[in-house]
Amino acid sequence: MLELLLAALLGQQPPMAQTAQKEQPAAPAGAPSLDYDYYKARVQPLFLEKREGHARCVTCHAGSATLRLQRLPEGATNWSEEDTRKNFEGVKALVVPGSPGASRLLRHPLSRDAGGDVFHGGGQHWTTKSDPDWKVLEAWVNGATLASPHASTARVARIIQTNAAGDNIHVIDPATNKVVGVINDIEVPHGVTSAPDGTRLYFTNEAMHTVDAVDAQTYAVIARVPLSGRPNNIAISNDGKRVYAGIAQAPGAVDVIDTATLTRAKSIAVKGAIHNVYVTPDGKHVVSGSIPGRMITVIDQATEEIAFEIPMSAGIRPMAFEKAADGSTSRIFVQLSDYHGIAVVDFKQRKEVSRFETPAIPGEHKHTEGLQAAPMHGFAITPDGKLLLATSKVYSTMYAYSLPDLKPVGHVHVGQHPEWVTLTPDGTFAYVAAAGDNAVSVVNTATLKEVARIPVGQVPKRNATALLRP
Ligand code: HEC
Repeated sequence: MLELLLAALLGQQPPMAQTAQKEQPAAPAGAPSLDYDYYKARVQPLFLEKREGHARCVTCHAGSATLRLQRLPEGATNWSEEDTRKNFEGVKALVVPGSPGASRLLRHPLSRDAGGDVFHGGGQHWTTKSDPDWKVLEAWVNGATLASPHASTARVARIIQTNAAGDNIHVIDPATNKVVGVINDIEVPHGVTSAPDGTRLYFTNEAMHTVDAVDAQTYAVIARVPLSGRPNNIAISNDGKRVYAGIAQAPGAVDVIDTATLTRAKSIAVKGAIHNVYVTPDGKHVVSGSIPGRMITVIDQATEEIAFEIPMSAGIRPMAFEKAADGSTSRIFVQLSDYHGIAVVDFKQRKEVSRFETPAIPGEHKHTEGLQAAPMHGFAITPDGKLLLATSKVYSTMYAYSLPDLKPVGHVHVGQHPEWVTLTPDGTFAYVAAAGDNAVSVVNTATLKEVARIPVGQVPKRNATALLRP
């Protein structure tokens, strides 16, 4: 009797008609994926849960055409794996990944006062969005997994690849190695960095002499902040409050952007036009490198005044920062103009302590054209601090050295004119921008094998890994 009544209420029909369930609109590009294990462990139990004063979701929705849950066999208290899979498919159709507010599963049983739908035939199960059950649904839609169960920490890793001769930037999902988005209208983008809270990306724009702030969700340019001159690379403070842009024009400066107001707060005068600028892993120093000035300038991040300078014998190209056990900077690895090798600077001694050439690769075609006086350009250190990766434009190769002993581990052929390297957050894969191939080479850092090559835009150079808020 009850069954019949409910069937009438829910509009239950023969299986054919059940396809009538309206699908939600497609997820936007870059949206998180819906995790099955999280669904099974955290979301599905909510449909079985008895809330005081309420009928359970399963009572009405098992076999229904709206929220499509499978019927529970007589006496069963949970669904089988197979039925859980079917439920997962049905429930998925009622959510928009990355957008809890647009998801009917979250709106329908939520009270109207808290932002829910006008009416749900099954009642108002949650009176506020801070109800722990509702939070679980929200986290799932935002991409939570059992490993990162909170919506606030649910981030998606993205490889952001600038195209130095283009007017756009490609966004790659390292889980699938597919381009999942394009940021447009930034001509000659040089460097990229991301806000630590995952809400924004920042690019240096060489055409307009600006730092461009981009919304991480919509990929729209939200501000262009004028600089004191043509910029090269960019870096961000660990608290996300300051963005540093290297000014690649004499006499040389590091411009400081206040990210709250999106204005230029100051310009720190340094010796020589600046190519790359970094913030050390401990966040305490901003370090700039000048090609014509042959100078590494170390700036105190807190005061934004120069702390010390390290003159070198040649122009400063990319740098990589090694941490001591206490997190402080121990060494800087430096690539230099016209040198096919690596110089080692002791940060505390404030001077170069050694340098070594990286070996020729027999049988590899040797590129000597278009090196722009930088035979080696591109560095990364894995998050465990055990591997230093360095790219060579001469041999289309990435070399690997163990740390701290700097013993050669091997090398891997990558695309032509590799210009920059970034790693997945766990360090498993390296993304090497191959400027000469308009592609990104993906390398497994443990096996040193190229596992994918992803076509991007014109002359890809700087790239970065961002943990974006979906
Ligand atoms: C007393 C029966 C009953 C209970 C209990 C119930 N529902 Fe419903 N539900 C309905 C009916 C009837 C409809 C269709 C009419 C409507 O839209 O309100 C519906 C519709 C829905 C829809 C809209 C589906 C669509 O295609 O737009 C969602 C989502 C939903 N319910 C989720 C839930 C969840 C989650 C629970 C448990 C927290 C729940 N319901 C509990 C009866 C119930």
